[in-house]
Amino acid sequence: MTTNADIETVGAPAWWKHGVIYEIYPRSFQDSNGDGVGDLPGVIARLDYLVELGIDAVWLTPIFASPMVDFGYDVTDYTDIDPLFGDLAGFDRLVAEAHRRGLKLILDYVLNHTSDQHPWFKDSRASRQSGRRDWYVWRDPAPDGGPPNNWRSEFGGASWTFDAASGQYYYHAFLSAQPDLNWRNPAVVEAMMGVLRFWLDRGVDGFRVDAVHHLFESESFADNPPNPDWVQGMPPAYQLLRPHTVDLPEVHDVVAAMRSLAEGYDQRVLIGEAYLPIDRLVTYYGRALGGFHLPFNFHLISTPWTPAAIAALVDEYEAQLPLGGWPNWVLGNHDRPRLASRVGAAQVRTAAMLLLTLRGTPTLYQGDELGLPDVPVPPDQVRDPFEINLPGLGLGRDPVRAPMPWSGEPNAGFSASEPWLPLDPNWRRCNVDIQSQDPDSTLSFYRRLIALRRSEKALLAGAYRRVAVTDSLLAYERSFGARQLLVILDLGGQGGRLGVPAARILMSTDSSREGEPISPGALTVRPNQGLVLRLDR
Ligand code: GLC
Repeated sequence: MTTNADIETVGAPAWWKHGVIYEIYPRSFQDSNGDGVGDLPGVIARLDYLVELGIDAVWLTPIFASPMVDFGYDVTDYTDIDPLFGDLAGFDRLVAEAHRRGLKLILDYVLNHTSDQHPWFKDSRASRQSGRRDWYVWRDPAPDGGPPNNWRSEFGGASWTFDAASGQYYYHAFLSAQPDLNWRNPAVVEAMMGVLRFWLDRGVDGFRVDAVHHLFESESFADNPPNPDWVQGMPPAYQLLRPHTVDLPEVHDVVAAMRSLAEGYDQRVLIGEAYLPIDRLVTYYGRALGGFHLPFNFHLISTPWTPAAIAALVDEYEAQLPLGGWPNWVLGNHDRPRLASRVGAAQVRTAAMLLLTLRGTPTLYQGDELGLPDVPVPPDQVRDPFEINLPGLGLGRDPVRAPMPWSGEPNAGFSASEPWLPLDPNWRRCNVDIQSQDPDSTLSFYRRLIALRRSEKALLAGAYRRVAVTDSLLAYERSFGARQLLVILDLGGQGGRLGVPAARILMSTDSSREGEPISPGALTVRPNQGLVLRLDR
């Protein structure tokens, strides 16, 4: 029988296989200087919170110098920290403080585009003769003077902006303030590999590689065809299929080069951000696994929340993973609606149990451990350019970026002054202080769940086998050697009964049942309940 257990025969398993990754959106994590925006000293001040939570690695969204049109995803200097967040000395302190606590630190590497204020782009734009003209993607207008083709920006409108002074259009997969670098130019490749080296030499443990599937555009510059499956509610950019702008084969050469570079250092991880169907996503492990260690798997965010759909997703993913490719799962991030708002408050813990007991590396998004919902943002306080460009479609990302509620102090202990985005109106009842003191809180549940994961080889490295799917329940086994765990999740909210062998409850979404022995027979699972059982053998 084949097994998908992770049986490493030499040395200890890589940290990124068994660790839990925690995403910090620094603007909204902890402010230390009272400007209403989070910063690096704020992150340092909260590292002990992360240790207590039990996570292994922190991924920080971009902290580089930026005009912040897309909140750091528009970089003007890849080797400096934006003053809003701190400075290089403060960054070195963060690395040291994280490492002292056994935490890894992962940076966000925004390589597809720079800011239009980056000196490289200013130079490129200056004239057609500029030495850096070819560092970006420039094209002549169409015969009618319009954009060169029909390509669309992810954030609405054409992905071409006309530069009147030099008479050409430049390409941007995102905002016009985010011109795409031309990765066909070896000088760009060299400069950007230098950026990776700069941070690796400074001790970072890896990178989350931003929007990597957008890296190349086809040299034919042909129109993208219409998408027959587009429906209202999907971003307008998806009205077109994107064979000429997304997931081009050339991307893999760049990823392989990044991987070779990372291999020159000890235990560094590369995580790729690519929203792609599973069969395409798994190609990002690279030929002979020479690509990303972890191509982010976002499918739990978009798959319908039913036992059948989730079971099918896990099966498809497990089946398509390349031999030796390590799986990973994500339930939320700074770009997608919050877990609690997507699946409902009643499912938050069951969803967490799914994330932390599936096979592979889990990534948590800050605040999900409190069960935070999306926070409505009134129109006059909207900050996200996605929402500003395409208002009212529900695409805006401000609601998932509300500041962390730490305590009952003014501004929830996040800042001495008014935060840059509104707090969850419920922050006085739902914050870290209150949840820390309550053994039955969502935060306490997350702490126990992460601790269980850490202590159970079957969860860290064991094989996955689907056991049952009903209208409401999903059950699967995780096993390593003789150790067998059975995870039963009521994802449908109806509860149900399931035949189980003799077992003991290791963990339950309602702590009351923990430790309870189960005799063989039909086990009753309450609505929204999740259970981890240890089978007696
Ligand atoms: C990624 C980031 C997102 C950003 C975009 C452009 O998808 O996660 O926040 O707006 O890339 O850089």
